[in-house]
Amino acid sequence: MEKITLKYGDNSLELPLLEGTQGERAIDISNLRYSTGLITLDVGYQNTGSCLSSITYIDGDNGILRYRGIPIEELAEKATFTETAFLLIYGHLPNESERAVFSQRLTENSMIHEEMLRFFDGFPPSAHPMAMLSTMVNALSVYYPSFFTESFESVTFDMMAVRLISKIRTIAAYSYKHSIGEPYVYPKHDLRYCANFLHMMFSSPVKPYQVDPDIERALNMLLILHADHEQNCSTSTVRLVGSSRVNLYASICAGICALWGPLHGGANQRVIEMLEEIHTRGLSIEQCIAMAKDRNNPFRLYGFGHRIYKNYDPRAKILKRMCETLISKYWYDEPLTKIAMELERAGLNDEYFIERKLYPNVDFYSGLLYRMIGIPTDMFTVMFAIGRLPGWIAQWKEMHDTRPFKIGRPRQIYTGHTIRRYVPMEERQSDPEAQGD
Ligand code: CMC
Repeated sequence: MEKITLKYGDNSLELPLLEGTQGERAIDISNLRYSTGLITLDVGYQNTGSCLSSITYIDGDNGILRYRGIPIEELAEKATFTETAFLLIYGHLPNESERAVFSQRLTENSMIHEEMLRFFDGFPPSAHPMAMLSTMVNALSVYYPSFFTESFESVTFDMMAVRLISKIRTIAAYSYKHSIGEPYVYPKHDLRYCANFLHMMFSSPVKPYQVDPDIERALNMLLILHADHEQNCSTSTVRLVGSSRVNLYASICAGICALWGPLHGGANQRVIEMLEEIHTRGLSIEQCIAMAKDRNNPFRLYGFGHRIYKNYDPRAKILKRMCETLISKYWYDEPLTKIAMELERAGLNDEYFIERKLYPNVDFYSGLLYRMIGIPTDMFTVMFAIGRLPGWIAQWKEMHDTRPFKIGRPRQIYTGHTIRRYVPMEERQSDPEAQGD
């Protein structure tokens, strides 16, 4: 095995150089602290690999994304979301009998325990759907307790996985119904995964929803494109929380919370809010670009830039095409879509964005598409969570299947006081400067 030599002071240490199947190389520092007393510092983990993984491959410079080796473009065009979920979790596309069992289990587990509906009663109608989603997913561990133990059976995992994938869309649709004060619409056994979700979202006792095949196809594609993205913020959260051996539901709940932030999955909601702001304030595209470039202005061009993709985001490319198809069919004159397209053009041609390699990312287009499907803006990140769920589950499983198993526990470089004495209150009162130094 190739090694590299680390020199520190008069000492040196040989560190193994690992190579992945796509030629990615890493210095293995597993024994660094033990051998030298040193640790590494990498704020934001820009240079740190946290695991070996065979689930998703990304080449950010060349805009490549593959799940279990299959290019995202092929999956987006040919696969169903549930097939993709199976692929991510079990490592191969399902054969006919595996597909049938998986589908059957999804159908049988699509309802949530009736008592769980009372949780919704406790939420104000204005509750953010991500808060409701994370609460309800965590609550699944109360109603469907299947806790991880050292001897956990694969069938236990299979059932936890299938319950989560099926029930998350029911929970999401019910949180929407709760927010608009309509009765919950139960899932139907004869609808496919995406169609069933659309039915629960948009049917009502007085008006059944007719599923439009183009809309179903767009939703299927959106979920596939979001299904995994290797060790991003929420996935790393799922792994870190799961590494304490807490159950899968609690680990996924933590991932949902991490995804909520505007720098991660929350960006799709921010994109639409930004476009609405531009529209209502009547800002010109030039003004927006200038504001985004101004360090003293908090305005950011949401939906632009990515930590990994520095050329283009392959998911964005696929969604742009889907956006164009749906725009030509339904929403040709919609003002926000027009602003988005002009903003995209301006950003792609601006020196600041070119120099920093800031391109439209998946969230730039996913927000537009969800809007066309009829999903309310504050539910966009929920849609991202439904899509990302199989990836989180696959990563959780992979971590638990890997030996040696280690709880995640990063270190730090301490920069605070060395030692101070405790100053009693009387002394602090009489001398506010007294700090015990
Ligand atoms: N608008 C304006 N300037 C930007 C933007 C943006 N959207 N993104 C990055 N920059 C600038 C940033 O100010 C910095 O400039 P300078 O070098 O002069 O200080 C430079 O570009 C590098 O940015 P960074 O924040 O250091 O890059 P990062 O890799 O740490 O952050 C990012 C990546 C996605 C958080 C960031 O590009 C961003 O905040 N984008 C907007 C939010 C967004 O769309 N997020 C969704 C990401 S895709 C979904 C997902 O996979 O999670």
